[in-house]
Amino acid sequence: MSDVFPAPSRPDASFPSAESYRAAYTRSLEDPAGFFGEAAADFLWGTAPTRIVSGSLPDARWFEDGTTNLAWNCLERNEDRGRADKLAIVWEGEPGETRTLTYRALRDEVERAAAALQALGVETGDRVGIYLGMVPEAVVAMLACARLGAVHTVVFGGFAADALADRLNDAGAKVLITQDGSYRRGAVVPLKANADRALERCPAVQAVLVVRRLAEPPVLVEGRDHDWSTALAAASGPVAPVLVPAEHPLFILYTSGTTGKPKGVLHTTAGYMVGAGLTARHVFDLRDDDVYFCTADVGWITGHTYVAYGPLLAGATVLLYEGAPNAPDESRMWRLVETHRVTIFYTAPTAIRAFIRWGDHHVTRHDLGSLRLLGSVGEPINPEAWRWYHRVVGGGRCPIVDTWWQTETGSIMLTSLPYAVAAKPGSCALPFFGVEPSVLRPDGHPAADGEAGLLVLDRPMPSLLRTVWGDDERFRATYFSRFPGRYFTGDGARRDADGYYWILGRVDDVLNVSGHRLGTAEVESALVGHPAVAEAAAVGRPDELTGEALVVFVTPKASVTTDDALARALADHVATEIGKFARPASVRFAASLPKTRSGKIMRRLLRDVAAGRATTGDVTTLEDMSVLAALRADEE
Ligand code: WT7
Repeated sequence: MSDVFPAPSRPDASFPSAESYRAAYTRSLEDPAGFFGEAAADFLWGTAPTRIVSGSLPDARWFEDGTTNLAWNCLERNEDRGRADKLAIVWEGEPGETRTLTYRALRDEVERAAAALQALGVETGDRVGIYLGMVPEAVVAMLACARLGAVHTVVFGGFAADALADRLNDAGAKVLITQDGSYRRGAVVPLKANADRALERCPAVQAVLVVRRLAEPPVLVEGRDHDWSTALAAASGPVAPVLVPAEHPLFILYTSGTTGKPKGVLHTTAGYMVGAGLTARHVFDLRDDDVYFCTADVGWITGHTYVAYGPLLAGATVLLYEGAPNAPDESRMWRLVETHRVTIFYTAPTAIRAFIRWGDHHVTRHDLGSLRLLGSVGEPINPEAWRWYHRVVGGGRCPIVDTWWQTETGSIMLTSLPYAVAAKPGSCALPFFGVEPSVLRPDGHPAADGEAGLLVLDRPMPSLLRTVWGDDERFRATYFSRFPGRYFTGDGARRDADGYYWILGRVDDVLNVSGHRLGTAEVESALVGHPAVAEAAAVGRPDELTGEALVVFVTPKASVTTDDALARALADHVATEIGKFARPASVRFAASLPKTRSGKIMRRLLRDVAAGRATTGDVTTLEDMSVLAALRADEE
């Protein structure tokens, strides 16, 4: 049923053959302490760890007796290795201007930002909110927090004021770093105005640093707001990296779950560092002459691990792009690749499907000869899109790594290694080192080869989340109660006879729209907050472009007239409450919603209704959806 694309040969790759992958993988399972102890030796430590892994899931700890600092490992460690004058960041704004920072310049900037945060009273362990566009300052801000042992919580710039406020309050952020505005498709995203509105209900935020991007000077609130450049210019003296214990909190990143309240996924320092560093190095086989471009926003986990920390740990040159892929036209990505001689390009299937729709000529009119490796992340990639990506973007010569992972896993868990493992379009291939996946039947017995089941990870991995911030109960219940001792991913999957994994999608009430995770409960709680709504149910339907599309069913309050204007108003309401990316593709009115005898909304029926009316039937996806429905535990 599926074709196989052999791994291209690259004899000097870090893993140049199937045997080399196999041997290292086997060792990583048989002797995790030896394997990860050696991996850890590549990093700088204050105190080198001797206890590599302790405890068991959900309470596993990594490198427990070590101390280190992640910013120190991203910066000084590369300067020590001869990369002081190497470009760390090449940035291009949407309007077209560029800025570059060498590793030395990045360290200098990070030290100044750390000093500025210190001057605002930020100490080790304090939480700092970051609400920025895709500008170099986003990476600088994250590294500055890490340098101080302060815990950053980056909120994607596409989130609305309310969503920002909820996250800042849950994290207990003391300082916020934001920006006047950022460019997206020629328009300005009003980040500072959103932040001002959010801060009306964030009493714990004492100070705000404002990065300037626009021509007009921003309005600064006296006594609260500080101009970023002025604060950095005033900062003096080196700021030494704070050596923190291995399990010191590094960052909180909010992600959608099955309730209306987003989960603050907590990652800790050393395990995350080793996971991010090791995967960036081997999955992308990063070299000193690579120019690496991951199109994700730093506000999502892909941006944390594979725009910022992973490639910087590997000493790579990272291309950052501020804006939309179709600004000023649909060839922007390929012009970026050509101009900056990008060698590694990492994006999401939803973007690839948009590129296909926009037409090959946007791609082929640019010289993409610099590319040597492509990546895909965020959702299952349909084999047709895979083949197009391989042929049109990769010129038939670039390996594609389809990387499966999650906000919670922190780094890539399933993938092919580009020069060692053959690719099968649509499959995310084999486990990375130290990862032991299983596909289970709902009763916990292993599924047979080819049988759909629930994907779990059987052992501790260094970069796995440690808890849900402020809600350890939820952490245990969500991930470890269904199959005790194992991490439950929330995904359905199949393993084929060659041991390759095929992800089917989420089995919980979490949607994946354009590679962005969205909880149906969050959407429902936004909807019932609208005065016209009595009851609401949100479900996904397969969509050719975005993977899944959000469909909401709404029962209006009595006496409310339903029309197109109300449907639009409700879609707007969700966009204002959560963010534009959460805007429903379709709003449908129903006099009542189908319920079980115990009063639970029968989402399965609604999903069928939503999917049944879909105009284009991607049969594979529809089949997958019905398989998933059968795996769901929450329905009668
Ligand atoms: C969910 C995690 C970390 C990646 C960005 C999204 C889906 C992710 C793949 C892939 C099939 C994938 C899963 C997963 N997913 N990568 N290569 N193939 N599905 O992170 O928001 O935490 O979402 O994205 O369903 O559970 P996230």
